[in-house]
Amino acid sequence: MAGNLRESWFIGEVEVPTRVVLAPMAGVSVQAFRRQGRRFGAGLVCSEMVSCAGIEHRNEKTLGYLRVASDEHPLAIQIFGSEPRAMGEAARMVEAAGADIVDMNFGCPVRKVTKTGAGAHLLEDASLACAITEAVANAVSVPVSVKMRRGVDDGSRRCLELGPQLVEAGASVLTLHPRSAKQMYTGYADHTLTAELVSLVDVPVIASGDITSRAKAQSVLDATGASAVMVGRAAQGNPWALAEIVDGDSAQPSREEVAAELIHFIRETVRELGERRASGFLKKFYAWYLGYGRFPKPFKNELVQLHSTEDVVTRLLAAAPGAAALLEELEANAPESEFLLEGMPISLYGGG
Ligand SMILES: Cc1cc2nc3c(=O)[nH]c(=O)nc-3n(C[C@H](O)[C@H](O)[C@H](O)COP(=O)(O)O)c2cc1C
Repeated sequence: MAGNLRESWFIGEVEVPTRVVLAPMAGVSVQAFRRQGRRFGAGLVCSEMVSCAGIEHRNEKTLGYLRVASDEHPLAIQIFGSEPRAMGEAARMVEAAGADIVDMNFGCPVRKVTKTGAGAHLLEDASLACAITEAVANAVSVPVSVKMRRGVDDGSRRCLELGPQLVEAGASVLTLHPRSAKQMYTGYADHTLTAELVSLVDVPVIASGDITSRAKAQSVLDATGASAVMVGRAAQGNPWALAEIVDGDSAQPSREEVAAELIHFIRETVRELGERRASGFLKKFYAWYLGYGRFPKPFKNELVQLHSTEDVVTRLLAAAPGAAALLEELEANAPESEFLLEGMPISLYGGG
């Protein structure tokens, strides 16, 4: 029987308070999402992939990704790139920004990324992957992690050859999303590979892919011996999934709770991205939050049509007046974010 989901574990010297990790998701994992993830029980949260070239060129927008709030820790910031020296330099900046862990993306299947030699391309180029890992591990004193897919082609077992080499090169933790890059998000994550990887390395392994419930999380932990599970799509617009997975709290949120949580998320995101960017960015979240049969479809469609986030807030409060008191409580308990930045980019939609 593997770990209890509520138990803490270590990545190097970093203590992770639960065995649930919130996945890095491009176009999703903004600071508001990560802070919320911690509040609902994720032991570790992760930024979306940040371009190492953008960091190197001090691209102001890219640097916006390196803003860390006090209540996010422990936090991993994920970088991607294909050049060891530049990745080492980017890692140094990520550490200076306050990341507890520097994560590297060796899994993104999107062509825009792989054609530059980054992301899932590195699964096919072990010597470059190891050189990058070594450069990053040598550049920082915090633990370094790598997130990868099973391989590029369907049925590939490349991750099992590469994983131990990456550990040798300095990785302190590996995350495996056992789909091939070609699969994108189709089919299913084959966690028998995760179990094999666990048996091959002496560092913690995080299992990513298709973790949607406590039962699934526990069965993957038990079957693989992984140290933690990572939750991605199941947490989109649904932080309650994290509470269910970590604590077995399967109570469905009331409409008032959903509305309060969404309004809080909207306000934090507007402070983070500015109204113009946030209003477009948030639309997918309206559909996610209001789904699961929580609100009628026409209401969801109406919100997506509204132009300003203030209009959305007004409509939500009209539909669920009891949300106001809950919201007040949420806002009173939220620590002030240390860093707020207008103009933070919504990067290319990546993946891993
Ligand atoms: C919209 C979206 C964006 C993603 N972006 C990233 C990313 O930036 N970096 C990364 O390593 N993985 C990324 N992923 C992959 C997830 O971290 C995760 O491994 C994958 O979604 C499988 O987990 P799930 O079934 O819990 O969603 C992304 C996934 C989605 C759906």
